[in-house]
Amino acid sequence: MNRLFLIISLCILLLSGLGAQEKDLASIYKNPKAAVEDRLADLLSRLTLEEKIDMLGGVEGFCIRPNERLGIPKIKMSDGPLGVRNYGEATAFPAGIAMAATWNPGLMSKVGEMVGREARSKGVHIMLSPGLNIHRAPMCGRNFEYFGEDPYLAGRMAVAYVQGVQSQGVVATVKHFAANNQEYGRHRVSSDMDERTLQEIYLPAFRAAVVEGKAGAVMSAYNLLNGVYCSSNAHLLNDILKGQWKFDGLVMSDWGAAHDGIASLNAGLDLEMPSGKFMNRETILPALQTGHIMESAIDDKIRRLLRVMFRFGFFDRDQVDRTIPLYPAESRKAALQAAREGIVLLKNEDGLLPLDRAAEQTIAVIGPTAFPPVTGGGGSSRVTPFQAVSFLEGIARAAGEKIKVLYHPGPKIAGPLVKDTALSQQLIAESGKIASLAEVVVLCLGFNQDTEQEGADRPFDLPREQRLLLEEVAGANRKVIVVLTAGGNVKMADWLDRVKAVIHTWYPGQEGGTALAEILFGDINPSGKLPVSFERRWEDNATYNSYYDDDKDNRVRYAEGIFLGYRHYDKNHIEPLFPFGYGLSYTTFEYSNLRLEPKRISPGQKIKVSFDIKNTGKREGAEVAQLYIRDVESSEPRPVKELKGLAKVFLKPGAMTRVEVELGESELSFYSANKNKWIAEPGEYEVMVGRSSADIKLRVLFALQ
Ligand code: BGC
Repeated sequence: MNRLFLIISLCILLLSGLGAQEKDLASIYKNPKAAVEDRLADLLSRLTLEEKIDMLGGVEGFCIRPNERLGIPKIKMSDGPLGVRNYGEATAFPAGIAMAATWNPGLMSKVGEMVGREARSKGVHIMLSPGLNIHRAPMCGRNFEYFGEDPYLAGRMAVAYVQGVQSQGVVATVKHFAANNQEYGRHRVSSDMDERTLQEIYLPAFRAAVVEGKAGAVMSAYNLLNGVYCSSNAHLLNDILKGQWKFDGLVMSDWGAAHDGIASLNAGLDLEMPSGKFMNRETILPALQTGHIMESAIDDKIRRLLRVMFRFGFFDRDQVDRTIPLYPAESRKAALQAAREGIVLLKNEDGLLPLDRAAEQTIAVIGPTAFPPVTGGGGSSRVTPFQAVSFLEGIARAAGEKIKVLYHPGPKIAGPLVKDTALSQQLIAESGKIASLAEVVVLCLGFNQDTEQEGADRPFDLPREQRLLLEEVAGANRKVIVVLTAGGNVKMADWLDRVKAVIHTWYPGQEGGTALAEILFGDINPSGKLPVSFERRWEDNATYNSYYDDDKDNRVRYAEGIFLGYRHYDKNHIEPLFPFGYGLSYTTFEYSNLRLEPKRISPGQKIKVSFDIKNTGKREGAEVAQLYIRDVESSEPRPVKELKGLAKVFLKPGAMTRVEVELGESELSFYSANKNKWIAEPGEYEVMVGRSSADIKLRVLFALQ
């Protein structure tokens, strides 16, 4: 009897369950098979005005507000771009600038994929990365997060990162939109520039990430652009992003970047983060009454929020994927490969590198960045790794039996913290003694998370204690290899001649020590190339007179216009210390047989550029071929050359490969200030293929009809 009762109850339960499920699917928005636009229209119609307004402001620091009544999930965000920053330890990948130095979009995409996977393991829906602001000056405290000075290279890396992250069902957020190119005064300073400069230099990476990469979200920057806060800048958000680029995802503010609810709402901001301080019921309800805000504008924002949620499947599955390990081996592998390919060998006098592991010798590892590991700069991108390999550990592990490794930390890293100068002196003198006991010194200098970080700029020069250390060590040993940790260039002209080799590691992530050691001992052939020109003197930089708001009027005038980085050095015939695209290898490469097909194109047609690269040295290695374009005659001023293609090839000694790059009208066009649109003018163009922006190996002309 009891059993019969149990069976009947179970059947009733089952049937009523099925009934509920059927009823559930009858709500279009709950039906995973229904079209995204139908689902969001259905859900939108069920939300009350107040519920909609409440969704326009974030909650709990990093979330989009859930709605229990209708089953809208809480959407969790995490910072990037160097890894999944929030919710515990994660893989610390090399910084954006190191990734850009790999010139390898395929590898960038792999790193993006790994970031996305780790995000899923933590139930993160939206990654607040990548960062796409262009490098103007080496001081900017967040250069390390970004992809350098060139819009094309930054765009390639951005698309790859976005696609990698999003392939895992996680939204990528491109930030900081736009022209957030310095950290000092970032909440008050207006980046002032003409439309052409904005369109040609500061926006292309965002456009590529949105149009090609299909990024789900965009974060508006803290600064003002031409006098209007980016978070309420209608030209930027409505006209360009949502109008010209047809972006249908969501625009969120940087944390605390919105200042005016009505202005932001009307200008195109969809979500105020971290909370609805301005975009809330108190501001919006009266404004709806007075007609300062239209309900249709609010609906458009909710549609965007919901579109992203439906598109990425957030209604249809649990975002936590428990099959993914919290610390995947595949992530570590990608982080190591990225560190290897991002490290740039800048100087190698007398072929000092690679070091001979088989020779009996003493190596002194000296300096404040040798230990503990410095994986990234400071601020919201700071990832806490499960483990990280310092330069010292990497070298000691790789050195083998015949090599003795000595170590001295030198002075502390942060200049202002070193109060006891007698101690800052004693440490330097000790370092000198250690240096004199070794055949070779690996001198680790630069910045770290406390001295190069978000919210402030850093100096161009290395901290004084480090310069003194360098003098002492270079005085004690003739074979000094300087290993730099920084988001960009540092002043080197004073000491470059005194050292034999210089290696730039940027911020190489948790596997940096292993990668550096592999390069020092020749297990890996360096292939990183500079994603930014290195100036000899700060005075040589294009922004020397336009980086600071010198008049103290909170306006930075981008007076250099489109002539930034190598565009400036080329135009003004100034020789940088190390040019954009530069980086040494332990082998040599030869370029030949440049061919174009066809040699004359009509608008809409593509041209195929092909050439051979041969490894003519004795070691296997990778080469980054760079393709630049010159418009021979133009109605408006144009740069001498602009990067428009790249290819990274891996070659065994003696091996040769044919590289193919396609060019179309968009690679030939510029933003005409006169016509206010992108145009490619008919006439002659030159294709230049080279090893860096200053080392062109092959050239040929072609025509656009
Ligand atoms: C940063 C953003 C970051 C946000 C959340 C802000 O200070 O500028 O890049 O995503 O904080 O941590």
